[in-house]
This record gives sequence, structure tokens and C-alpha cells, in this order.
Amino acid sequence: MAAPILLTGVTGGLGAKILHDMLHIHKYPAANIIATSRSEDNRNRFESQGLQFRVADYARPETLHAAFEGVRDLLFMSSSERDTPTRNGEHSNVVKAAKAAGVKMVWYVSLALGGFGNHSKVGFMQAHYETEQMLKHSGLDFISLRAGSYADAFPLFLNWYPSSTAVLMPNIQPPVDEGKAAWTSRDEIGEGMATLLVKGLSSFPSIKPQTESNIILLSGPTAVSPSALLEAINRGLGTNVQMKYLDPEPWIEVQAAVDEGGKGAAWFEARLVWLQGLADGDAEVVDPALETLLGRRPEDGPTTVEELLKAAPNGLYYWHQNHVSPRK
Ligand SMILES: NC(=O)c1ccc[n+]([C@@H]2O[C@H](COP(=O)([O-])OP(=O)(O)OC[C@H]3O[C@@H](n4cnc5c(N)ncnc54)[C@H](OP(=O)(O)O)[C@@H]3O)[C@@H](O)[C@H]2O)c1
Repeated sequence: MAAPILLTGVTGGLGAKILHDMLHIHKYPAANIIATSRSEDNRNRFESQGLQFRVADYARPETLHAAFEGVRDLLFMSSSERDTPTRNGEHSNVVKAAKAAGVKMVWYVSLALGGFGNHSKVGFMQAHYETEQMLKHSGLDFISLRAGSYADAFPLFLNWYPSSTAVLMPNIQPPVDEGKAAWTSRDEIGEGMATLLVKGLSSFPSIKPQTESNIILLSGPTAVSPSALLEAINRGLGTNVQMKYLDPEPWIEVQAAVDEGGKGAAWFEARLVWLQGLADGDAEVVDPALETLLGRRPEDGPTTVEELLKAAPNGLYYWHQNHVSPRK
């Protein structure tokens, strides 16, 4: 049997789609895939599908050393940890364990803020840049798969809930609505990543990893403004939610006081940095790599948003990261 490929993140939305497509679209042998989770409780759900299972917790290096033994390819899903130094520490554990175990190839799932550059000031992007540097200095072969901003996460980006009658944005310069983003369907990112893992980069000669960080950028086909997403919400639900503006300080205060998800001022302060990045063009880069992997034009952000809402029972679409106590 060939050396196995190890997938982290398979209990989450993106990793589950990658695993699904590897098994059911590409018919990749289940016995050659090692599924992982931080929790031993997930063993049965993967072993019952004929997959191998190992516990891998980025915060516990001993689990990583055991999990990575004999692994050829490692799909390294970025941690859900929000604190940048803690996240960097966890990612450093992964890189060191992969190096020690002699992993042949690391596919790091990163985020496309800053396009192919490293200039985004958004807090959680800093751990992605740092991790690319760790991978480069480790001497491991690696690719950084910078994933486009999920169209599916529009409730997070707009701070929208099914009960919203308005979407509040801060008055900044340039205006938020001039910030276009190449929103990308999470399922299509997963589909593209599964195809790449199974077929290998050499099957796609037009996709050339860029910069010293070996970046492949997986984006939607066009960059659109936040109001294009809001229009898609209104089309999907038949509502007339409008975008309203407040100056940054009152915007933080008002949002933190009334947020349905219980997020506090610190969260909105960080979101202000993200919105400034959006306005400055952090998420605007469109690249053809995802179209090449899918063999068709990816969905644009508004189409994904409208379809998700039309499919949601009674229009009740939630995104777990909009809530302080994550909604599953
Ligand atoms: N592109 C975007 O717009 C965007 C938006 C939101 C998030 N993201 C990033 O993309 C990643 C995947 O997205 P998703 O939607 O699939 O997230 P998700 O549904 O929240 O799933 C996160 C997955 O990562 C695993 N994980 C998290 N922290 C870990 C740790 N410390 N050690 C080991 N495994 C860990 C979890 O495994 P267990 O719980 O089973 O251990 C889970 O399977 C997220 O982790 C986040 O970094 C990207």
C-alpha cells in the first residue's frame, strides 16, 4: 500500500468536503487516508468508512509526532484558534512534527487576504504569513493554498442575522463598499483542493505556485462589493435589508451592545481592521487556478449567497463564527 495522506480538519466544513470528494468523486482508497481530529470521540465515524484515524491536536505535540509517522502528504488545515501568538505556537508544533516525521509534502490551508503579498494588516492573517515562513525555513516541501474569503461566511463578514433589518457598516476611507472581494464558495474550494491532492500539481501545468511562499490562490471568478452580497441576500429571502453607516467608534459601541451573537467590543475592533483591509483591496485578487481545478467557472459570491439562503429552511441561515458560543 502506498504511504498514506493525512487530512486534518475533516470534522469541519472545508475538510469534510475535501474528504467526501476524495472518497466519492475520485474514488481514492479509504485505507490510504488518515482522518484526524483533536478528539478520540471521532474515531468510529471515520473508521466505519474504512479510513484510518489518528488523534492530532496542534496544541499537543506528542499527538502530532504519533499521527504523522509514515505520512507522505499532510493536509494542514489552519487552526481555529483566534489568538495569533497561540495560533503561531500551534502551527509551529505542526511544522516541527512534520519535519521530524519526514513528511514529503505539506499542503497548508491558508487565507487569500493580501492576494499573493504579505501586506494585509488583518490580525488572523498574520499567523498565516508566519506559518508560510515557518514552512519555508523548515526545508519541507510545501504549498500554501490561500483560500478565498468564504461566500458562505457572509453573515460573519456583514454581521448579518436572519432577523437583521439593516446591515451596519463603519464610515471609513476608502468607503467599505468600494472594497471588492473575490468571495469563494467553501464547497468549491474543497472540491478544488481534493482534485489537487488526488491528481497532484503536475497534472495542472498552468498552475504555478507563486513567491517564496509557494502560493496557489483559490478564488471566485470575480470581485464584488459587500453591497452585491446584500443584494443577493435580499433576492434570496425577498427582504429589503439596507446598508447603514456609523462612524467607527459608535459603530463598535452600537454593534457590541446589541449583537445577537454576543460578540463584544474587542471583536468589532478587530472587524474594523478587517473592513479597512477589505476597503483597501485585501481580498480583491482573482486567480484562474480554481477554475482550472474545477474544470468550470467557479460560482461568484452573490450566486452562492442567494442559493444558500434559498436552500435554508425558512431562510434561517447561520454561520457559527458569528456567535460567541459557536452554533453548530
Ligand atoms: N477562507 C475563509 O473565509 C475562512 C473563514 C473562516 C475560517 N477559515 C479558516 O479555514 C479553516 C477551515 O475552515 P472550516 O470552515 O472547515 O472550519 P470549521 O468548520 O470551524 O472546522 C475547523 C476544523 O479544524 C480542526 N482544528 C481546528 N483547530 C485545530 C487544532 N488546534 N488542532 C487540530 N485540528 C484543529 C477542527 O478539528 P477538530 O475540532 O475535530 O479537532 C475542525 O475539523 C478554519 O480552521 C479557519 O482557519 C477560513
